[in-house]
Order: sequence, then structure tokens, then C-alpha cells
Amino acid sequence: TARVRLRFEPSGVQVSVPPGVTVFEAASWNGVAIDSTCGGHGTCRKCKVRIAAGEVPVSRHDPRAFDAERLRQGWRLACLAQATGDLTVEVPPLTTRPKAATVGVGRQVILRPAVQKRYLELAEPSLADQTPDVERIVRALDDLEVIPDLHVYRRAGRVLRAADFKVTAVVVGTALIDVEPGDTTARRYGIAFDLGTTTVVATLLDLATGAPAAVASMLNLQQPYGADVISRISAAMLDPAALDRLRDAARDTLARLTGEVCARAGVAREEVYEIALAGNATMVHLALGIDPEPLGVAPFVMAARSFPELLAGDLGVPVHPRARAVVLPALGAYVGGDIVAGALAAGMDRDRRLRLLIDVGTNCEIVLGDADRLLATAAPAGPAFEGAQIRCGMRAAPGAIETVRIDPAAGRVALGVIGDAAPAGLCGSGLVDAVAELRRTGLLDASGRLADPDAARRISPALAERLATVDGERAFLLTGPDAAEPVYLSQRDIRELQFAKGAIATGWRLLLEEYGAAEPDIRQVLLAGSFGSYLSPASAIRIGLVPRLAPTRIVSAGNVAGEGAKLALLSAQERAGALALLEEVRYVELSDRPDFNDRFVGELAFPG
Ligand code: FES
Repeated sequence: TARVRLRFEPSGVQVSVPPGVTVFEAASWNGVAIDSTCGGHGTCRKCKVRIAAGEVPVSRHDPRAFDAERLRQGWRLACLAQATGDLTVEVPPLTTRPKAATVGVGRQVILRPAVQKRYLELAEPSLADQTPDVERIVRALDDLEVIPDLHVYRRAGRVLRAADFKVTAVVVGTALIDVEPGDTTARRYGIAFDLGTTTVVATLLDLATGAPAAVASMLNLQQPYGADVISRISAAMLDPAALDRLRDAARDTLARLTGEVCARAGVAREEVYEIALAGNATMVHLALGIDPEPLGVAPFVMAARSFPELLAGDLGVPVHPRARAVVLPALGAYVGGDIVAGALAAGMDRDRRLRLLIDVGTNCEIVLGDADRLLATAAPAGPAFEGAQIRCGMRAAPGAIETVRIDPAAGRVALGVIGDAAPAGLCGSGLVDAVAELRRTGLLDASGRLADPDAARRISPALAERLATVDGERAFLLTGPDAAEPVYLSQRDIRELQFAKGAIATGWRLLLEEYGAAEPDIRQVLLAGSFGSYLSPASAIRIGLVPRLAPTRIVSAGNVAGEGAKLALLSAQERAGALALLEEVRYVELSDRPDFNDRFVGELAFPG
């Protein structure tokens, strides 16, 4: 789809967005603040802007905010003004300074959470004023148009009378979900979940400041059903009862983390009014109790790309009983809500530079593009990066070797180990480092073969001592010949890494071709995910995992999926941005390409 360009005055900020996005959203996504107290719902009439160039038809609500003369001059409510063509928009100075927070990959986000609170001091009813209780509350919320939940009708009478009609209304989006006695406006929280196949992370956010109040993580309790999404889908297919058990395991994981973050921050569960969840399509299906079978077999179909408004209780998250849940939408069965969240957090759709986002994992998702065009694909990298199928592989936990430096002149190998522990194994970043260093020193050739002892002796006699035969295959001893439990890298381990990086490199190279660009055109590579974030850029380049750019252009982006979930909680406009991404990103399927295998084989070499 062609995009439309908006220019905001007096800031001079220029943005391009998909047609149909509102002026308010386009401004919010790009850090341009427009006045609002309703958060873009068309009810506060504060988001006044003037369309100085371009056409925006008068909306239903505009005549209530402006007289005929001002309408003629181009004044519109920004949250109702859809940009269908290029526009120049004049933004008046703000009457209230909105708070902003830095989230994701350095993104400045204007705080406009869907959760809002209003303290109300209501007139007590009398025989002369018999306004019903809930109507009295709704009327007082004059800048918000809300629909009360049944919960509110049940509680209002008691709460109003117990609190002398001084209450706080709790609104999520357009739903009035509760009335609380007294002034509780200072306390409103949300939880952002990154529901990973392996690890699940919860961040409790103070929605008033955007700051995290507590963070906790644990292994997904679905682990016993398999390490990757395919084995969990198979588990659900083989045994009808397994689907329920997998759902319950996901819910238990989310519930435990909820208890932990609330306890750590001293926040009552009832003060959490909304949650957001980013996960791959399989994790989301399982957590919602939806049969994932169609995801696992060609043609790989999801139940839905996005889910309508859900309750936190639908995901088993024990917070406020009427708390809402936002599930980040997915592009496809293998480009899920986690990568949509990541693209959102990285601002992939609003940067003019050509950028590449790689979420390195068992299933590796890749997004390439800029503000004009975005392409995405998924590459089956296999479990090597998680430490599986690697002889001495382990997760990034205490004892894992995470960095490796080989000094051929001194004949030494320097290891960086997680925690204050003796080396017990090799995690993904250590694996990449080890192979890159062996390649750099010539102990490994471009085809991925370890040097024979004679060749190795010519490089360094001391290092040649570390070449051993373990279980009938050549291996390089990382921990040195006299370690009690040696940690080594075997020839087959190196092959595993070759397959993983070959799949990923094939993925981004094919996307580059589709885009019509070449390696040097890429301005930035973002390495994301629990594994990718810890990779050494130089090593990633040396093994050919990422394009050959200056190492400073290869940036660790952190847990972008979790950051995207935070964004969805902190800004209703960002949430709309995630949905807009579904229209903007074109998914490129690799598995049906006739040349995939040839390309993959061509990517197996280590460039060095
Ligand atoms: Fe409130 Fe537009 S009317 S933001």
C-alpha cells in the first residue's frame, strides 16, 4: 500500500503512515504531542489542529468543537481526522504537558495509556435529584464516553455511600470497569508479558509515569511438552487432553509472575487494570486454549491475526476482575505477535533508514525495511542457539561460557563465564564467539572444518594441544587439556551452527533481493531476543550471521517483544500502530521458494 506523508508545524516533523491512520495517531507514533484528555477517543475535544494543506472531511463531532468559520479554515479534531492524502498539520501549543517515557529502541513515547482514572466528588442524591447512581458517575466523566461494566452497577451503590460520594472512576479505553472509594488516581498499573517459548518475562508498569515497578522472569511451565513450538503443537495433536494442560501451564506461568511482580512492588493485584501480551502465534493460541494444529501443518493457518478485546481472566491472569488484556497481533503462523511487538518497539515503520531486525532463536524472524516499505520472513534456524544439539551446549545461565577470545601468539584461550562459576558449558553467544575466533585464527576453514593437528601446530603449538578427538570426532577443547569436565566444541557442533546461520543469512539475503537493495545499503542491524541481544557484533559478522557492516552499525536491541508489549500498555496509539503494521508489512514465505535449498547451501560457509 502507498503511504501518505504528513508534515507537522511548527515542529517540522515529517512522517509517512498508511492511509486511514488518524492525524492524532500519526503524531503520537512520531513523538508529536497533541492536547488530549480522552486519549484519542473523540470525546474530550481538546485535540484541535488546523489542516494547512491537504483535505480532511469534516467529521460528525467537528461541528460541536468548531464554528463554521473555523471549519472553513481547516480546523479539525485530530483523533477523528483520517489522513487519506498528504497533509500539512498545524499543532497549537499544548495546554498541558504530556508525560513521555523512553521505551523500546530509544523511542520517546507520549504516555496515553488506555487505563485512566478520574477522581469525582459527586453531589449526594436527594428527593429533588434522584439521578441513578451509575448515571451520576457517567455524567461526571464529561470528557470521556464510557460504557459501564455490570460489575460497576453491582458495586456503585455501596461504594458511593460508603465513601460519601467521593470516588475514583476506573476507565479502560471506553469501558468503565470500577468505582473505588476515595482518591486512588495516583495508583494505576499494568503488566506487560513477553510469553516466550522458553522464557516468560513480566514487567509491572506504573502507568502514570511509564516506569517499570518490578520485573520477573521464569521458564515457561510448558517446557515438559517440548523445547520448541513444533513439539508443543505435536503434543496437543497427539493427546486431546494435552491442549488443556498446555493452556493451564501457560496460565500458571503468567499467574506466578503476576504474584511475583505485585509482591515485589507492593502493588495489590486489583490495582492492575490492564495487561498486554506479546508471544509467537503458537504460544498465544495455547495460552488462549485455541487448538494450534493448523499452525503446525501446511499451509500454516492461524485462528486469527488479532483478537478482540479480552479480559485478563481469559489468560488466567489474576488481577482486577474486569482488567482488560491486549494481545499483540501476528502477521503469520511463524511471524507472530512477538515480532510485531519488536518491529513496533524498534520503530521499523517510522525510520527513514533501511534497517534489518533479526530476532535470533529457534525460529528466527527477520524484518527488513524503512518508513516506506517493510518485508518480513521467518527462517527455521533450529535449536543450536538455545544450546540444544550442541554437545556442551547449555542455556545462558551461571557456568555458561558466553565469550571466547583466542590469542594464537600467546597460545591462550580466554573465556568469559556467566556468574562466578567454573565453566560448565557453552551458551549461544559463546558458541558464535568460539566459532568466530577459531575462524579468525585459522584453526577453522571457511567450509567449517577444524584444522588438522599439523596445520594447527603451524598456527600455535599450544593451541594445537587443544585439538582432540572426542567420541570419534574432532573437537577443540575450550577449557584446556587438564580441566576435570572439559567444555569443547565438536566438528558436529560447528555444523549445527552452520545450518542455523545459513538459514538466517538466506532469509535476510532473500529479503534484501525482494526489497531491491544490497548489503551496503543497510544502515543498521538490530539483533534482538534473549539470545541475539548478547551476541558480539564482530563475531556475528565473522560467521556471516549478519551483513558485513561496520560493527557499530550492529546494535543489540534487547528484548524488543517485551518492549512492544510495554508500548501497547503505555499508549493506545501505539497499540493502533501495532495493528497498522499488519497492513504495512509484507510477509515473504521462504519455504515454497524453489531456489531456497541452493541458496541455503551457498550460505553455509564462514566468511571469516
Ligand atoms: Fe480527545 Fe480527540 S477528542 S483526543
